[in-house]
Amino acid sequence: MIQTTSGSHPNSPFTPGYGRRPLVYGGHENLLEDMRTVFAEHDLGESQSLLLSGLRGAGKTSMLQRLQDLARENDWLVISEDASAGLHKRLTASIVPGIVNDLPQATKVELSSLGLWHFSAEWQVDRRPVRTLLRQDLATIAEHSGARGILLTIDEVSSGKTRLREVSAVAREVSHAMAQGVEIVIAFAGIKVDLDELLRQDHTTFLRRSRAVEFTRLSPPEARQVLDETAKIGGRTFDEDALRHLIAVSQGYPFLVQLLGHYAWTHDLESPTIDLKAAEEAQRRGVKAVMDRVMSKVFADLSEKDQEFLRAMAVDEDRSRIGDIVDRLDSYSQYVNGYRNRLIDSGYVEADGHGYIRFALPYLGAYIRSMAEPSAAEHADAWADFPPPSL
Ligand SMILES: Nc1ncnc2c1ncn2[C@@H]1O[C@H](COP(=O)(O)OP(=O)(O)OP(=O)(O)O)[C@@H](O)[C@H]1O
Ligand SMILES: [Mg+2]
Repeated sequence: MIQTTSGSHPNSPFTPGYGRRPLVYGGHENLLEDMRTVFAEHDLGESQSLLLSGLRGAGKTSMLQRLQDLARENDWLVISEDASAGLHKRLTASIVPGIVNDLPQATKVELSSLGLWHFSAEWQVDRRPVRTLLRQDLATIAEHSGARGILLTIDEVSSGKTRLREVSAVAREVSHAMAQGVEIVIAFAGIKVDLDELLRQDHTTFLRRSRAVEFTRLSPPEARQVLDETAKIGGRTFDEDALRHLIAVSQGYPFLVQLLGHYAWTHDLESPTIDLKAAEEAQRRGVKAVMDRVMSKVFADLSEKDQEFLRAMAVDEDRSRIGDIVDRLDSYSQYVNGYRNRLIDSGYVEADGHGYIRFALPYLGAYIRSMAEPSAAEHADAWADFPPPSL
């Protein structure tokens, strides 16, 4: 066993990574409060369907997890899935039978006598008498599981055609279940353009009445709270100047808040407090990591044309003048404005005074500039002398 000296703090309480539950959850208090009421009091109101949109690392999956926790605390049944291929089949052929398997035996006897499900001698799901629709499954579970309601969360909605068709098929079943009076809340998460596409599918019109929540950045006090309280839970404190520095570097971007906290924590595990030197080291490592691990994906999510637009913006260190972008793209202002509006709508860009825009995400511009540097192509050049031999 490895001995740690007393006063050492080996385990970082920060959670940089996708879908890792943060110990301290910053912001979005209104939504959480409303959903607590929904689950506790069954007052579904406008919160029966939720659309959580935001760019990568903004905290959508973490919010779904919070909602799942709230639902479970209030004795709701939780079904959480990703919108990956085979969603509908997974639900009907695996998730729902799994839920039924976990029901008490007396309930299974009841389901069996009603002819809803057939069971093996060991009381495991055998088969269903007829081809059942998901809406019926949901109604059966709601009625017989003893749960107070069902929360269905679908993460990673993406705009691939087949997948969207599947997600909308599931949405249709859920809307029918809702219409039958099944107590069900459904929450989708994905990037904005993909959720917009989902709303354009057949059978998803009911989702237009959803509560839509956009995940952007945390406010400075929220970023402070996350850093400060997470460190305290881990048993250490930040020096005030270190804390202020990290808040500024993070720009409230949730993934980066966690990365910075983590690197600052691990800088000197023996020290009881985290000082400015640790924060500066965290800045160096955290900004690099956020560019490599997050900004690269955020950028790759865009179409070629959108990327071109952002490249034209990244020429400017600070904000960009729309007129300059029109020139750089050698295009028309009407066309450029179309892109501008879409990129604002999906959270990449924000307006900054009349005729100007800037990146809405910290370090996205810096990432794009770094791609254009000669060093990025360094290895490509070196490999040019060694083309792969033909087979
Ligand atoms: N409100 C928050 N407060 C503190 N930390 C957060 C918050 N939201 C997210 N995080 C942290 O940020 C990181 C990214 O969160 P998450 O995986 O939920 O993002 P996401 O929006 O689902 O990203 P993606 O689009 O790539 O799936 C995780 O490390 C998580 O712990
Ligand atoms: Mg996610």
